[in-house]
Amino acid sequence: MRKNIVAGNWKMNKNFPEGIELIKDILEQSKNVDKAELIVSPPYIFLSEAASLLSNSTIGLAAQNCSNQESGAYTGEISSSMINSVGANHVILGHSERRAYYGETDELINQKIKLCIANSLKPIVCCGEVLQERENEEHFTVVAKQLKGMFENVSPEEFKNVIIAYEPVWAIGTGKTASPEQAQEIHEFIRETIKNSYGSELANNLSILYGGSCKPSNAKEIFAKPDVDGGLIGGAALNANDFIAIAQSF
Ligand code: PGA
Repeated sequence: MRKNIVAGNWKMNKNFPEGIELIKDILEQSKNVDKAELIVSPPYIFLSEAASLLSNSTIGLAAQNCSNQESGAYTGEISSSMINSVGANHVILGHSERRAYYGETDELINQKIKLCIANSLKPIVCCGEVLQERENEEHFTVVAKQLKGMFENVSPEEFKNVIIAYEPVWAIGTGKTASPEQAQEIHEFIRETIKNSYGSELANNLSILYGGSCKPSNAKEIFAKPDVDGGLIGGAALNANDFIAIAQSF
């Protein structure tokens, strides 16, 4: 059956000593978490150090992005194979901030998903609508379109590695959270959509995380919903106590 996962999306926060401190605190407190797998995602340049700190633990390590190219003349880019070679095992892809500020499209994200999986990295693939789309009641259509584009030509064998995060853009960093019912109805829709493309077994084994102002005070009721298998946590992942408290909410 599918796993409960709580993944911290650090974004562009923490300098090196602060980041290492946070990983050590999470590592220490992770002993008190038994119903969820934890994943941390420090910036690229801390991944190698983070991987050695986490090497004897069950905590996963994610990059926040990767290139859509395998290797070569792409100044400033980081490839999936580089990420794998320093000991990370996951990559966050298609985050709404990457879509909004760096023009990432479903097609580009699709290329990244394929490269990640080819390099033994599990992608945490994000989807979600903006406020206007929610107000126009287009959220199901928007998410369906994102899923179709992002998983174009992704085989069932490849899809086994995928984790999906539903993050309504209007709830990210705003303090506004989707209600547990809003989260459940769209998570159920995502699972149904995946079932139609990949069959029940893969759909039932898929972990679908909720993201958007998830914190210790609201995680419990959101995670109690049957199709919510954990969270992708931004702000609250920058504090070990909060991050761990969220992971203890199952
Ligand atoms: P937030 O961010 O928890 O700060 O809203 C979530 C995310 O962007 O992944």
